[in-house]
Amino acid sequence: MPVGLLALGTYVPDKVLTNEDLARFLDTSDEWITTRTGIKERRVAEQNQFAYDLAERAVLDLVARHGEGALADVDLVIVATNAPDAFFPNTAALIQNRFGLKAAGYDLLAGCPGWIYALAQAVGQVEAGLARKALVIGSEVLTKITDWRDRSTAVLFGDGAGAAVVGPVPDGYGFRSFVLGADGSGGAALHMGALANTLPDGTRMSNKIFMNGREVFKFAVRVMDTATLEAIEKAGLEKADIRLFVPHQANLRIVDAARERLGLDWEQVVVNLHKYGNTSTASIPIALKEALDGGRIRDGDHLLFVSFGAGLTWAAAVLTWYGGGA
Ligand SMILES: CC(C)(COP(=O)(O)OP(=O)(O)OC[C@H]1O[C@@H](n2cnc3c(N)ncnc32)[C@H](O)[C@@H]1OP(=O)(O)O)[C@@H](O)C(=O)NCCC(=O)NCCS
Repeated sequence: MPVGLLALGTYVPDKVLTNEDLARFLDTSDEWITTRTGIKERRVAEQNQFAYDLAERAVLDLVARHGEGALADVDLVIVATNAPDAFFPNTAALIQNRFGLKAAGYDLLAGCPGWIYALAQAVGQVEAGLARKALVIGSEVLTKITDWRDRSTAVLFGDGAGAAVVGPVPDGYGFRSFVLGADGSGGAALHMGALANTLPDGTRMSNKIFMNGREVFKFAVRVMDTATLEAIEKAGLEKADIRLFVPHQANLRIVDAARERLGLDWEQVVVNLHKYGNTSTASIPIALKEALDGGRIRDGDHLLFVSFGAGLTWAAAVLTWYGGGA
C-alpha cells in the first residue's frame, strides 16, 4: 500500500526582521547577507510563542484548508523540532491533546532534516500497520536560541512551522524512497549544549546555537549531492524524471550547487529562503505549500526533498504527488 501526503498546513509569525534591522545592532550589512546566503528577511516568534504554539497554528491552517476530516484516523503525531518548549512533556503529546486525537506522540530531534526523518518514520509505521495516519510536524523557534552577538549565525535563522498528514494513497503515488544519514564526528560543527558541558570529543559546548559555517557549508554541498542522487536511484527514477526540487532553505549558494549537479532549471527549484531564512525542520513543508499554492505541483509529479543539519545529519526523499489529497 503506497503512503503519501494527504494534507498540508503551515504557519510563520507576523513579525519580520530584515537584514537592515540586523545591521542596526550587528556588524553586518544587507549586501553581505544577501550575497553570502540569499536571505533578505526572516520571521520572529513573539515572546510568548514557542514550538507548541507554532505547531498548533500550522495544524489549524491544515484544518482550515482541508477540513476537520483531515485529522480523522490520525493515530500518531511526530513533532520534529530543535527548540522544544520543554524536555518533557513532548510537544507531540500537547498537540494530541489540543486536537483531541487518539494518538501516540513523540518529538524527534535530528537537526534540520528532522521533518524528513519524521516522514520516514510515519510512512514506515503506516506501511507496517502500526499507524493508520500520522500528523508530521516541523516547528521551530530558533530565534530564541540564537546568539544575537554572533553575526555569522544570527543572520541565518527564522521561525516557522509546517504540518502534514501522512496516509495511504492510490497506487502509483506516494513516497518512493528515503535516504537518511548521520555522522556524529562532525557534531561539534553545529551544536548547542543542554545538560552536559562538553561533547564526547571534549568540545566545550555553547548554550546558544554555535556553528562553524565553512565546515557546515562543505558538508552540506557534499551530502545534498550524494543524498539526492541516492534517493532518485532508490526510487527507480532518473534525474530527468524530477519535476520539482524542494530543498532545505539554508543558503542559496548551497541550493544552487545541488541544482547544478541535478541538472535542473531554476523553475524546477522551490526557493523562499529570502523571505524566511533557515526555519530548520519547517523549511521544506513551508516551501512545499508555497509551491502547491503557486500552482507549481501537478498530480503525478515526482518531487525531491533534501535537507542537512546538526548531528551532523542529512535526509532526502522522493515523493510522487497525489493531487487528490492535499
Ligand atoms: C555562514 C556562511 C554564510 C558564512 O559564509 P562564508 O562565505 O563561509 O564566510 P566566512 O565564514 O568564511 O566568513 C568570511 C568573513 O565574513 C565575516 N562575516 C561572517 N558573518 C558575517 C556577517 N553576518 N556580516 C558581515 N561579515 C560576516 C567573517 O567574520 C569573515 O571575516 P574575516 O574574513 O575578516 O575573518 C556560510 O559559511 C554558510 O552558509 N554555511 C552553512 C551554514 C548553514 O547552512 N547552516 C545551517 C545548517 S542547518
